[in-house]
Amino acid sequence: MDYFHRKDGALWCEDVPVADLARRFGTPLYVYSRRTFIEHYDKLTHAFAGVPHRICYSVKANGNLGILRALAQRGCGADVVSGGELHRALVAGMSPDRIVYSGVGKTVPELELAVRTGILAVNVENVEELRVLSDIAVRMGRRQGCAFRVNPDVDPHTHDYLTTGRAENKFGIALEDVGQAADLAASLPGVDLIGLDFHIGSQILSSGPYQAALRQARQVIEALRGRGFPIHHLDIGGGLAVRYDHERPMTADQFHDDIAHLVRDLDLELILEPGRFIVGPAGILVGQVQFVKQVPGKRFVIVDAGMNDLIRPALYEAVHRIEPVAPSSGQATMADVVGPICESGDFLGKDRMLPPLERGDWVAVFTAGAYGFAMASNYNQRPRAAEVLVDGGRIMQVRRRETWDDLLALELESSDS
Ligand code: LLP
Repeated sequence: MDYFHRKDGALWCEDVPVADLARRFGTPLYVYSRRTFIEHYDKLTHAFAGVPHRICYSVKANGNLGILRALAQRGCGADVVSGGELHRALVAGMSPDRIVYSGVGKTVPELELAVRTGILAVNVENVEELRVLSDIAVRMGRRQGCAFRVNPDVDPHTHDYLTTGRAENKFGIALEDVGQAADLAASLPGVDLIGLDFHIGSQILSSGPYQAALRQARQVIEALRGRGFPIHHLDIGGGLAVRYDHERPMTADQFHDDIAHLVRDLDLELILEPGRFIVGPAGILVGQVQFVKQVPGKRFVIVDAGMNDLIRPALYEAVHRIEPVAPSSGQATMADVVGPICESGDFLGKDRMLPPLERGDWVAVFTAGAYGFAMASNYNQRPRAAEVLVDGGRIMQVRRRETWDDLLALELESSDS
């Protein structure tokens, strides 16, 4: 469900014609619908209303301040994975007691920022990190709440690159090492072990893998509590899927109904770290057709948005729906929608049936709100796109387009010395 819809054939975002935005702000352009991501956030909160819970939006999916601020105002917290994300979440007004920090390679300055801020929990991913965190907290005269991120060795049945909770993945503490980690936690003066955490992957369509991980987590919680650790929360990560093409992901309500019985009796707060579920459907990427090129046996629609703007098709062979922005009629033909970048992997969609398109037309790439701009780069010296946030009829440019000079600025200010 989203608020991108058609009126007399033309694509609108909420109460604004997308063509007006493309004309005004240029392309490539990310367009976000506030109503869509707020509604997805609300759907999760309502689904879990009967379970004490906290939603910590995964900033990596889309860290635009306009989006973070809107979520913060609604009481949403943040899941961060770097000092940069933590800084951003704080600037956006996220409350420290609603921030959790995951990641396998946290640096000392990053952990110092977390401790100084007093975030709810550092999700510790190995025993060495636990020791380093305790040392930092002691040095700063603090104690830091932490959770063990465990690796439950569960297959989430998703793209290989999006799998994070299998034994061979780099994430989390192996279940057999939890006892040793708990011994250490008990002996360290700077950390309080208050939670348990897992994150098994992303774009997970059904609740089975979560149930499997929860069964493991229940045993670990029992063991830790048995040893006197007050486990106040269980963080089950993110991973809820969205519909890109023909997938049928579970709804927030189905997810709740399938897992609630596994947490209700535990007497703790549940933490969810959704990213894609909240912002994925809330964004489109708009590009403009530069050329339509017919070669023997193939037709290319070449647009001004490329893999540097949206890398998901190139990286995961992800399928994003692509449609013209304007009303379309006429015989659809098969084409590859490609970008201007000098790589054959630079495509937005392959073998798509598209109505007639010509130079100057705009196309929209759907479900691009998560891991779209967030993974954009300046490859081929391409300035990153502008981002606009639509709220009803209100239009906010939440990030201006980069310029060619922006791309030089950091190099020009460095000096030889
Ligand atoms: N929590 C942790 C610890 C994570 O590592 C992630 C995502 C999330 C939460 C949020 O997951 P979500 O709810 O968005 O599935 N670039 C890939 C996705 C990588 C996800 C990495 N971790 C893509 O474009 O599909």
